[in-house]
Amino acid sequence: MELKKLPQVPYGSLFFAPMEGITDEAFRKTILKLYPEWDYLATDFLRVPSAGKYPKKHIIRHFGLELFEMSWVLDRTMFQILTSHKAFTIEMVKQIEDLKFPWLDMNIGCPSNTVCKNQGGSFLLTNLVSLRTLVKTIREHFSGRFSCKIRIGYNHTENFEDSIKMLNDEGVELITVHARTRDDMYKLPARWSFIEKAVKISQVPIIGNGDIWSPSDLKNMLEQTGCHGVMVARGALKAPWIARCFKENNFKMNDPEIYHEIKHFLKNYRQHLEDENVTPRGLLKQSKSVTRFMLDGLGETNEIRRKLVLSQTVSEFYSIIDGL
Ligand SMILES: Cc1cc2nc3c(=O)[nH]c(=O)nc-3n(C[C@H](O)[C@H](O)[C@H](O)COP(=O)(O)O)c2cc1C
Repeated sequence: MELKKLPQVPYGSLFFAPMEGITDEAFRKTILKLYPEWDYLATDFLRVPSAGKYPKKHIIRHFGLELFEMSWVLDRTMFQILTSHKAFTIEMVKQIEDLKFPWLDMNIGCPSNTVCKNQGGSFLLTNLVSLRTLVKTIREHFSGRFSCKIRIGYNHTENFEDSIKMLNDEGVELITVHARTRDDMYKLPARWSFIEKAVKISQVPIIGNGDIWSPSDLKNMLEQTGCHGVMVARGALKAPWIARCFKENNFKMNDPEIYHEIKHFLKNYRQHLEDENVTPRGLLKQSKSVTRFMLDGLGETNEIRRKLVLSQTVSEFYSIIDGL
């Protein structure tokens, strides 16, 4: 039986980007609870194995055991996979279909050396003929919403338009364009003109991504590129509340309000990690990861940031946060 068809993503939708090591179950639960203004979220990528296959419970765990039971969350979350020609893509996609995940996203942007050496992620953009085969295979075996997240090229942008056309031809229903090549890595500024180009040639919605740090950036990307929606990664890690600020037309928050938000966010995040019985070591590591951009640009915070990074225990870390 075919999976249910999700309705078209509305214009102006805001996406919280997939981030490896960040957007796990506890993190997404915190975002869903505190910042429902994000219209859509994404899991970080699940690597398709090149030997054997994952048990279904491993796939569910990647999404989150509790979240998997909530159909409204399933409908709002891209389940992302990272694959290559060497991997067992069909087996994985069939399992995802059997589990009735309504939305599958393919990672065609990861820049990591290991991933590219294994011919996955952004490396796939070096050969559109073979990428087409992989995309076609996924489309044939997955009846839900199929989206792809791409960069504008690997080491040049000459194939960019062809990549957008190919994804359209192969039945991809939504394309996120991270406006950098693999060689650009995370270099500033992202090249939004490519998002505009994609919008002009694509029949399916284009979601723009790259360098959104404030509610004004969100507005500018929608206006300048004509994209259908915007995805935010590091800017959303720095300020998970920016979707709310954007929707409330609150274009500037003052420092005390930001400190209040940071504490509120971390209190909830810590609770979700504790509910999942994460070890103190894991709790400290995750708390450090998610706060790594939060204090950037806020007053004289160098010393506080240094103390947070060097903190050795959960109570030490959180007493610094409480003192903000
Ligand atoms: C820590 C981190 C982890 C990431 N993990 C993923 C991932 O699992 N899948 C993915 O498609 N992109 C991943 N990305 C890329 C982001 O989703 C996004 O495309 C990129 O950071 C550009 O957006 P930004 O300028 O808003 O940060 C990651 C980025 C960061 C900073």
